[in-house]
Amino acid sequence: PRILLIGPPGAGKGTQSKRIVETYGVEHITTGDALRANKDMETDYGKPREYMDKGELVPDPVVNEIVVAALEDADGFVLDGYPRNMSQAEYLDEQTDLDIVALLDVGREELVTRLTGRRVDPETGENYHVEYDMPAEEEIRDRLEQRDDDTEEVVKDRLDVYDENTKPLIEFYEDRGLLARLDGEQAPDDVWHDLRLAIEDAQ
Ligand code: AP5
Ligand code: ZN
Repeated sequence: PRILLIGPPGAGKGTQSKRIVETYGVEHITTGDALRANKDMETDYGKPREYMDKGELVPDPVVNEIVVAALEDADGFVLDGYPRNMSQAEYLDEQTDLDIVALLDVGREELVTRLTGRRVDPETGENYHVEYDMPAEEEIRDRLEQRDDDTEEVVKDRLDVYDENTKPLIEFYEDRGLLARLDGEQAPDDVWHDLRLAIEDAQ
């Protein structure tokens, strides 16, 4: 299947993408991870870091290029973090069809809690949370890091950027009959249950 996961920062796009990949064996196309791995790369628009650390969108040509290269060798895929504005959505439209657009709906308060408490294991990429989900092994606990853009001020800016630039895409995909709205505030297993049903339905 060709799946697009859409939702605000912290909605669980990365968490659910993992399960989609395990279940359907599709490609995980995530502009956020790709950019984080190349934060200091020089582009015609400067380094990705200059935008990401402020919670701003990296310019369209940079992200479009990442996506078009990834789509080339993908049969099925889950897109996570792209498109994020109308012009990216139109660009994607020229590149491929989609089977389903799943929206992970989560309220602002819960997003702030998830993001400011998130810690990442730099060795495995695994996500943890200071209050809800810390690793039992001291060795892992000691090496956890906070993402540069998970501080309270930057989180607020990321959420505003989502409201302004990305939210309009919901209607765009709804008008095309592709949208499935999911309650993303449930526990991860329950979100996955609903998401899987929506994917099966769309095929
Ligand atoms: P990106 O990496 O895409 O970040 P994001 O959209 O802000 O989303 P996150 O990765 O923070 O959240 P997520 O939805 O994946 O949630 P997760 O599963 O991790 O983008 C980062 C930056 O890159 C952007 O700000 C921008 O600068 C740039 N960029 C990226 N794409 C771009 C594009 N297309 N155009 C321009 N610029 C672009 O979960 C979050 C936390 O919650 C975790 O701790 C997790 O364990 C926990 N959690 C997950 N699900 C649940 C649940 N159901 N219940 C409780 N906790 C949960
Ligand atoms: Zn993510």
